Amino acid sequence: MLFPSLEDAQSQENILAIGMQKGGVGKTLTAVNCAAAAARKKLHVLLVDMDPQASLTLYFKHILKSPVKQTMYNLLVEGAAVEPIRLNKYISLLPANIDLAAVNQLFAILLATKTLPNRVLARYLAPYAQQADLVIIDCPPSLDPLTINGLGAARRVIVPVSCEEMAEDAVPKIIQTIKGLRRDEAMGANPQLEVRCILPTQYNSRGSSSPRILQHIKDHYGKEYYIYPEPVLRREAYQHAVSESVDVGAKDGELGAYWDTFVESMILQRKVA
Ligand SMILES: Nc1ncnc2c1ncn2[C@@H]1O[C@H](COP(=O)(O)OP(=O)(O)O)[C@@H](O)[C@H]1O
Ligand SMILES: [Mg+2]
Repeated sequence: MLFPSLEDAQSQENILAIGMQKGGVGKTLTAVNCAAAAARKKLHVLLVDMDPQASLTLYFKHILKSPVKQTMYNLLVEGAAVEPIRLNKYISLLPANIDLAAVNQLFAILLATKTLPNRVLARYLAPYAQQADLVIIDCPPSLDPLTINGLGAARRVIVPVSCEEMAEDAVPKIIQTIKGLRRDEAMGANPQLEVRCILPTQYNSRGSSSPRILQHIKDHYGKEYYIYPEPVLRREAYQHAVSESVDVGAKDGELGAYWDTFVESMILQRKVA
């Protein structure tokens, strides 16, 4: 496989990252259901698992059956031409496992070799992005070099924020990281990275706190960022979908339609209508 030089490692137009340093807010769920909705439109999607905990890879355990052999570790560390795993006709996966945790330390020493540590993934992902209509990177729940590389490779990022518990500093931290990455020349900048939207998740219609937290998100970030108006609802169907390695649309047509609309307006259109 021909990887571009570091200087040429631009973020590709069709690469989207799902990023938020808080765990359990629905990043992986968003990645899976966006991929499924895009696939329903007959688009070829590549899912990229950048989380050493590999929840995206494990989501598909009923399809994969045996442990994965080559992972993002082999791509990022060895430059190996890792073959994406075909999950179905339209969706493929570049998988992860715990080996990926070691990459964080490796990225940290790259600067000494004059390599741009923020842009390693951008470089290695480029040939894959040329083969796909859409690439979705599922970032880990931290602001470590793996997340920075996910953001460094992407043109757009979706930031899921839970409506279940108030996390005052969660959004400012990821925003600060994104802004820093746009101008970090020494480590490798990605000036084209755009926050596509903040996606409120886990909206609990029966709980009392969700409306208040959603309003807080709108009040504090609505001026600078687009807050997707329909939050992801907390529904058991999402858990049932995980346990069967299917997208939520297979369990609940209405929830599937939610993601169809989300993908149409937030991923396939350049500007908010
Ligand atoms: N809207 C929701 N309704 C029901 N369960 C959800 C919802 N969002 C997330 N979950 C569950 O919470 C857990 C964490 O979600 P996940 O997408 O893996 O979060 P993250 O990738 O941000 O860590 C999963 O078990 C998932 O099924
Ligand atoms: Mg996850």
